[in-house]
Amino acid sequence: MRVVIAGSSGMIGTELVSALRRADHEVVRLVRRESSAPDERTWDPPAGKIADGALDGAHAVINLCGAAITLNRLSNARKQVIADSRIEPTEVLATAIAEHDIPLLINASAVGYYGDTGGRVVDETTPAGQGFLSKMCQEWEAATKPAADSGARVAMLRTGLVLSKQGGLLGPLRLLFTFMLGGRLGDGRQYMPWIHHTDHINAVLHILETESVKGPVNVTAPNPVTNAEFTRAFSAALGRPAPWVAPKFALRLALGELADEGALASQHVIPKALQDSGFKFTYNTVDEALGSVAKR
Ligand SMILES: NC(=O)c1ccc[n+]([C@@H]2O[C@H](COP(=O)([O-])OP(=O)(O)OC[C@H]3O[C@@H](n4cnc5c(N)ncnc54)[C@H](OP(=O)(O)O)[C@@H]3O)[C@@H](O)[C@H]2O)c1
Repeated sequence: MRVVIAGSSGMIGTELVSALRRADHEVVRLVRRESSAPDERTWDPPAGKIADGALDGAHAVINLCGAAITLNRLSNARKQVIADSRIEPTEVLATAIAEHDIPLLINASAVGYYGDTGGRVVDETTPAGQGFLSKMCQEWEAATKPAADSGARVAMLRTGLVLSKQGGLLGPLRLLFTFMLGGRLGDGRQYMPWIHHTDHINAVLHILETESVKGPVNVTAPNPVTNAEFTRAFSAALGRPAPWVAPKFALRLALGELADEGALASQHVIPKALQDSGFKFTYNTVDEALGSVAKR
């Protein structure tokens, strides 16, 4: 297949481009600068522009764009950047997909869609939650509508915490744990949906090739764990004790709303759409996954 990918320079995109090529797909990368390689085409999401011919003959578009969400207090200006960098590129691509009659859009989203759902089991039919992250995910997913209206198959990846050596949250966590500053967050009873990076890539390849998969897709491992269980598993994988507890009030002081919407939010997410469509995970338990990525 000829696959056009946006956000290809990121943690997931870099690995996905290699995996697509290994699977003999032709990859075209949309870049937000002047193109400098034969497989690159320039685009400018805020201006709504894509280089002429970039989407010609494409069988699928994969959109992984989004400015990083780091564990810091969010100013209103930063929230705007985070939202715009996801919603605008999605709108531009979904509209272009409709114009070019491209049959498939695989678009990033996140488990943040569900908000804090406590201990309740969450699948793709669970309604959206509350807060900035949830509202943003709802608008992000809604921005795919022009593609769906044109008849394209649209899959929205509600991704959990991606466990990888290459980046993401595991880097700063590893540093804390290495210096024996690791510990659970709050009471540690909140569920953390996670996924090993290899399973994330394989899930995208599975969606690319499985016609029946469309709509929201939870890209999370089948066995989500509580923060206390995750902390124990990470501590064991690194061989470092994690004796501390970050109290809720301190997290709220440090992170603002990202404490309750991120670090302390509980999401017992299960990957129903992936499992119903026959996807097999390589890393089913957090011990297996962290055992493979914890150490650098
Ligand atoms: N990693 C996770 O744990 C996780 C969890 C849930 C959801 N997700 C979502 O999955 C997607 C990919 O994640 P990732 O970990 O690969 O992210 P990443 O490493 O931060 O990469 C995201 C890519 O988005 C593009 N980008 C950055 N700022 C942008 C802006 N202002 N406007 C448009 N594009 C911008 C960049 O690609 P170019 O420079 O090539 O354009 C960047 O490489 C993101 O949408 C993320 O929110 C990730």
